[in-house]
Amino acid sequence: MDQIVINDSSHLKGQVKIEGSKNAVLPILAATILASNDQSVITNVPLLSDFYIMKSVLESLNLKTQLNESKNEIVVDATGELTHEAPFELVTKMRASIVVMGPLVARTGYAKISLPGGCAIGERPIDLHLKGLEKLGVKIEDHGDFIEAFAKNGLIGNNINLDFPSVGATQNILMAATLADGITVISNAAKEPEIIDLINFLNKMGAKIIGKGTSTLTITGVSSLLGVTHNVVQDRIEAGTFMVAGAIGNNDIKILDAIKEHNEPLIDVLIKMGASVSFEEDGIRVKGNYELKSINVETEPYPGFPTDMQSQVTVLQALSDGQSQMKENVFENRFMHMQELNKMGVNFRQEGNTIKINGSTHLKGAEVDATDLRAAASLIIAGLNASGKTVVNNLKYLDRGYFKFHKKLSDLGANIQRISK
Ligand code: EPZ
Repeated sequence: MDQIVINDSSHLKGQVKIEGSKNAVLPILAATILASNDQSVITNVPLLSDFYIMKSVLESLNLKTQLNESKNEIVVDATGELTHEAPFELVTKMRASIVVMGPLVARTGYAKISLPGGCAIGERPIDLHLKGLEKLGVKIEDHGDFIEAFAKNGLIGNNINLDFPSVGATQNILMAATLADGITVISNAAKEPEIIDLINFLNKMGAKIIGKGTSTLTITGVSSLLGVTHNVVQDRIEAGTFMVAGAIGNNDIKILDAIKEHNEPLIDVLIKMGASVSFEEDGIRVKGNYELKSINVETEPYPGFPTDMQSQVTVLQALSDGQSQMKENVFENRFMHMQELNKMGVNFRQEGNTIKINGSTHLKGAEVDATDLRAAASLIIAGLNASGKTVVNNLKYLDRGYFKFHKKLSDLGANIQRISK
């Protein structure tokens, strides 16, 4: 079991390169299932454990892949005869595998998917995915620990209104609708940049999707799609995580090629707290402040403040000059990191989906356990600003969403090591 060991790192300075987006590459890999002609070449892929799991899911469906790790490039060939079952042992490792269901049933007429377990941050139901696919004419059979999806006679376009702008449900329904007969309109669709990247890829493949970036997507079905080349958009959450690290003390970090529009609510919070943010031609530079101001934040679907940045910002709130509130509106249980931060001296009170965090915390090093991938990042950021040694366990969570995170921080001057225990 690896551990990350951090000692007081008073000053981070320099620039950091950000990987391709985990939450974009996963649905884009699923979308390669739709390409019955020509292979797809996906570049700027992040070499994360979730990426490798999705690669294995595709291979279990008889897609052929060739990965060139040194070029961060994967070639995917879905032109052969595909099989129909995403195996239990893979789907339970990564619930995002559920997004292969839409493309697979649209391409082949049948899909059998194990039910993804919930996870630490919530129940993670898939009712919106299933309701949307049923509206497209898919027959769903729920067998408890797996789902069968049938569409022997193909899918029929329809109007679908999502009760909640679910990212995964939008992706699953959108991909299925590209091969449906007729027009599909998805209302209250998710608008995250990763959805836009998926739509860009699908339209290059020959899909006909309009409305990207809005909550209404209109898809005119086509008979088949082609494999194409696509460069994955930068990971806005990894970029945001380094912006948070840069906002503390006298840190000064430039996040190379960061996209301002992808992180506006976060940047607004950092500026209001007293960090200085400058937009340079090769990236976004964040300089820290020793007197961060308290601020109340609540998470919302995009373009609101992202839930995936929530735990990182709670560390800033703990360091700020007064009490702050964090309200989590997207997931029902995403405050587990607070118990671990409490071991480092953070005092908070939880009332339902809101926590009140006391400021002026003197963080002290401790041994802590990550509870999800963004929690892992927040504990490491806290350790960088604590007196004494911090040890972070459960790095399997970190490795899902951050590539060589400790190395990037040590290149910025952090006193951080990753050791095998
Ligand atoms: C995606 O998860 C991301 N994962 C998450 O990132 C991110 O936090 C989330 O979107 C919200 O932005 C990937 O893209 C792989 P949702 P997803 O469907 O698609 C409820 C990270 O840290 N819901 O938008 O699972 C659900 O329970 C990860 O990188 C239903 O009720 O998110 C949750 O409360 C964590 N029924 C809310 O919607 C459904 O059918 C948001 O879920 C689907 C979702």
